[in-house]
Amino acid sequence: MSATVPEGLMWGIKKSFLGYLNRMPDARMSVTGGASVDVRQRFLFPPDSVDDFSAESGEGTIRFGGDVRFSGHHGMMFVMLTAPAVTFTPGGATLSIADPESYPVLDRRLDLLDLQPAGWTDHHGARLFAPMPSALRAEGVALFNDVYPAGEPFDTLSIRVAV
Ligand code: HEM
Repeated sequence: MSATVPEGLMWGIKKSFLGYLNRMPDARMSVTGGASVDVRQRFLFPPDSVDDFSAESGEGTIRFGGDVRFSGHHGMMFVMLTAPAVTFTPGGATLSIADPESYPVLDRRLDLLDLQPAGWTDHHGARLFAPMPSALRAEGVALFNDVYPAGEPFDTLSIRVAV
């Protein structure tokens, strides 16, 4: 297991959620804006900006592009994950996304996950963060129809980005 992490944010979202979608007869998915998905259903969001991130302190925000949407249940289910960003603070890290409630302007952010930074290494001039465990924040509970409680584990996130 030494596959190189491509540049960007790689995230499988939540394995059981993708399993649910795979079982849903009318589920649909769109992956646009430079994002991609691999055969293992890991989504890659491309790097956007490190302007608000300090390589020296390791604090600040790394922004990514891309847009991943899921729909199903005859239009009653809709989940949109757009322009994720990871903010590192002295105590940890947070994953935010464009707040779907602010669609179509997308001028607000939603703090979706708490992350546990697990260190990083220099990888051919880019910073490779060790996979970060994640847990749903209270602000993100409604996005998944209140099915998962705050603290629910989501898939780990891997980042490789030139800083
Ligand atoms: C017509 C409305 C809906 C019906 C009939 C429905 C039905 C179900 C059923 C039967 C399950 C359990 C399925 C399984 O484990 O395979 C489930 C789980 C779930 N549903 Fe829905 N649902 C509906 C709407 C929604 C909406 C609007 C959302 C918003 C995102 C949603 C998100 C979820 C999630 C996150 C799970 C848990 C998946 C997991 O991790 O196992 N559902 N739903």
